[in-house]
Amino acid sequence: MIDIEKIRAETPGIDFSTHLLACGSSLMPQKVVDVILEHTQLEALMGGYEAESKKIDDLNKIYEVVAEHIGANSNEIALMENSTVAWSHAFYALPLKSGSRILTSEAEYAANYVAFLQRAKRDNLTIDIIPSDQNGTLDTNALEAMIDERVGLIAISWIPTNGGLVNPAEGVGKVAKKYNIPYLLDACQAAGQMQIDVNKIQCDFLSATGRKFLRGPRGTGFLYINEKWLGTIEPAMIDHFGAPWVKKNVYELREDARRFETWENSYALRAGLGEAIKYAEDIGIDLIHERVQLLAKFNRDLLSEIKNIQLRDIGSEQCGIISFSIDEQNDPKEIVDQMSEAGFAIGLVDPESTLIDSERRNLPTLLRMAPHYYNTEDEIEKAVKQVSLLL
Ligand SMILES: Cc1ncc(COP(=O)(O)O)c(C=O)c1O
Repeated sequence: MIDIEKIRAETPGIDFSTHLLACGSSLMPQKVVDVILEHTQLEALMGGYEAESKKIDDLNKIYEVVAEHIGANSNEIALMENSTVAWSHAFYALPLKSGSRILTSEAEYAANYVAFLQRAKRDNLTIDIIPSDQNGTLDTNALEAMIDERVGLIAISWIPTNGGLVNPAEGVGKVAKKYNIPYLLDACQAAGQMQIDVNKIQCDFLSATGRKFLRGPRGTGFLYINEKWLGTIEPAMIDHFGAPWVKKNVYELREDARRFETWENSYALRAGLGEAIKYAEDIGIDLIHERVQLLAKFNRDLLSEIKNIQLRDIGSEQCGIISFSIDEQNDPKEIVDQMSEAGFAIGLVDPESTLIDSERRNLPTLLRMAPHYYNTEDEIEKAVKQVSLLL
């Protein structure tokens, strides 16, 4: 059982507002804030390089913390400033022959899709969308039927930014493995919300962010690269950290995934990310997942009773992100602002964030609510009541 009272006492943001937007950027625990402040203070006292040297053992341990969290080895982890940078590093490094096909999910995130478009234009690739089943979940049988010798990459979002959907990351991994196709998994919204085991999923690359369900600071993320790639994969951009300059005309790539990193970083924020992961592990990811599911269902059920609201969630398995639309005479942006004035943080998502899915389902701008385990049923009840009063 999660000790909610203790967790709430350790979360200073609880007293400020009712935050129901973990899919945006959730509330950090005080311990995470403390670690960031401590390192920043040390930098102020000693100087940044000196603080890094003093804390180097702890900073190096963050790779182990991240690795253990997802069932990887620490040499397979690169720390990044967000999920997109992590994802892009893997995507742009992948050699894809002219004429190759990229297979992706219907609700793929805009940042990923524009990168597909750029490489499609530059490298003569095609992008093919994997159809969903009747529930809206990515259909792994349809995926398998699409495989041919031209498929160079399967890149999907495990949990899309809206739609409540959980795609079958493991089922996709089975197909990728069977046909030996590189598999890049966007786990941005999954990290901190549910268990991640890269060995079960069998992905080659996985990207995630710190600030959402992991409760870490903004400006943090990580990339997992399966060891088997480390012998060959060359980052699209390098510097002398990831690839030391060893002779006048020679650089040598680092042997680990940190070849994707650069020399300068925010060590305070990295320390915060490590602390956030430890905090989640101490509670237990399965317990977190269970509570997020429970609160999300409660939230969805309450919203479904309001007549001016249309729930827009799909999928046979649903996550902690709840998306809904409101009648046309109400402006979603104004609702978010008015909710904020009333002390509730909820969010918006434009159709452009997941354009393929939005066009297919004719989605307007949606409102999003995403309770985390630190929220209570009472908070959700009050928030939904407030939304209903505004419509
Ligand atoms: C599914 C998904 N992928 C990627 C991202 C991008 O993450 P970041 O902003 O950390 O780069 C988001 C952000 O909302 C997302 O929802």
